[in-house]
Amino acid sequence: MTPRTVSTRPYPDQKPGTSGLRKKVTVFRQPHYLENFVQSIFDSIAAPPGSTLALGGDGRYYNREAIQVILKMAAANGFGRVLVGCGGILSTPAASHVIRKYQTFGGLVLSASHNPGGADGDFGIKFNIANGSPAPENITEAIFARSKEISEYRICEAADVALDTLGATSLGNMQIEVIDPVTDYADLMESLFDFAAIRALLAGGFRLRFDAMHAVTGPYAREIFINRLGASAESVMNAVPLEDFGGGHPDPNLTYAPDLVAALYGEDAPDFGAASDGDGDRNMILGQRFFVTPSDSLAVLAANATLAPGYTQGLAGIARSMPTSAAADRVAAALGIPSFETPTGWKFFGNLMDAGRVTMCGEESFGTSSSHVREKDGLWAVLFWLNVLAARKQPVETIVREHWAKFGRNFYSRHDYENLPVEAANGVISHLRENFAALAGAQFGQYTVQGCDDFSYTDPIDGSVSHNQGTRILFTDGSRIVFRLSGTGTEGATLRLYLEAFEADVSRHALDAQDALAELIAIAHRISELRERTGREQPTVIT
Ligand code: G1P
Ligand code: ZN
Repeated sequence: MTPRTVSTRPYPDQKPGTSGLRKKVTVFRQPHYLENFVQSIFDSIAAPPGSTLALGGDGRYYNREAIQVILKMAAANGFGRVLVGCGGILSTPAASHVIRKYQTFGGLVLSASHNPGGADGDFGIKFNIANGSPAPENITEAIFARSKEISEYRICEAADVALDTLGATSLGNMQIEVIDPVTDYADLMESLFDFAAIRALLAGGFRLRFDAMHAVTGPYAREIFINRLGASAESVMNAVPLEDFGGGHPDPNLTYAPDLVAALYGEDAPDFGAASDGDGDRNMILGQRFFVTPSDSLAVLAANATLAPGYTQGLAGIARSMPTSAAADRVAAALGIPSFETPTGWKFFGNLMDAGRVTMCGEESFGTSSSHVREKDGLWAVLFWLNVLAARKQPVETIVREHWAKFGRNFYSRHDYENLPVEAANGVISHLRENFAALAGAQFGQYTVQGCDDFSYTDPIDGSVSHNQGTRILFTDGSRIVFRLSGTGTEGATLRLYLEAFEADVSRHALDAQDALAELIAIAHRISELRERTGREQPTVIT
């Protein structure tokens, strides 16, 4: 089995985005495209010969093919051992845990997260470093730079590796261990949460409905909820992972999880509903006829953290991405612990967690997690909620309303305009920037602009600086409008408009968020000329 060196030519578009390289399957299938990117990773990370790599993905279309290519390239590039999930499967948080538990050099995670799958859908690949976190920007930039000058890659000529039976095999000098993707992760969850209390809650008639959206969390959810916690078989829906996610869009939100939403808003609704995305790192939380925004979910979990056995010592600090509402900051202030505001994307939390500065992190985009891994973790959030519900014995809605009464409510919404012409989307952002000076001090109804900027972040641990992380219009009362271009889309441009207004008055907490934010929404349109510049009257998705 001699490694072969294959000549290649660079592709210009292998720049990792918010979360690795995401492209259409058709793009990945171009000759040498995947190989170029994988070799660019291997060339950039300088793994010592004999290193161990973790490998797995969300099972979407092209997952198996890509895994075979990567195994043959890893062998040719001097890796000593690869831990690969059975069937090529590892949810993103489970991959992070495998990297940490087995102390591998790093891992390759194959997923396009919540983006649709299938032959015409999306695929993605991401390198995670030894702490289990997505590679920081200096590494992703080095990978991109390498991809622009690559001229050859190394691969072993070999038969495909059997991925569906647990156990060890080899490829040349490299060991391959096909591992059970679920057990280690389920054990980790059992070590953090009070499974006995959750089991008692479920045995007492509390009804749970979890939607795996035909994606990777199906087997994890069955093991944890049904086998370990005794939930009924109907508690887990869409539990068989499919290569195209059943034709759906595996994004757990009110638009793309309609069956779950219908159940939780229908007659005889279950007590608690939740969903996770394609690769298992996102979560949506619902009570009976009640939606918990991800920003509120982070704040509520932080405020109740000590109810879970893994967090009885309290939290060192809380971090949230800039567009996420400041609800968690209020909890941090009340607890007397630090809070951090980072750019969008989980990779910015890794340093803070490694340094012990934060325990819990979250993003408004349905991402919540803690330092138990270095990725966001959908099932972790669901189990945390179940633990809180088991301890407090109150409905979801009551817990959230009591939280608002204590801390105030940060009304929050995100409006996405998907698949816009790139020029038009860029035009909105440049128009806003050109008006920064004119907007300062401007009065719009009850709102006065305090200032505008492009968010920049200096990592407090390594001092690295990230610029242009979102265009902010900040008001004197703490309300905010943020515009940001997505870094994960694969078609045209996606413009995200984030809106936030704080309300201390309990009598106004029952308002619908869109109503409470109506004035800010109108201001956002007025100052951005979004409708005029994009021709869009309505957002594609509101969360
Ligand atoms: C989106 C979310 C972001 C999240 C990322 C990966 O990125 O907004 O919070 O970390 O997906 O799940 P975006 O498309 O906005 O760049
Ligand atoms: Zn995801």
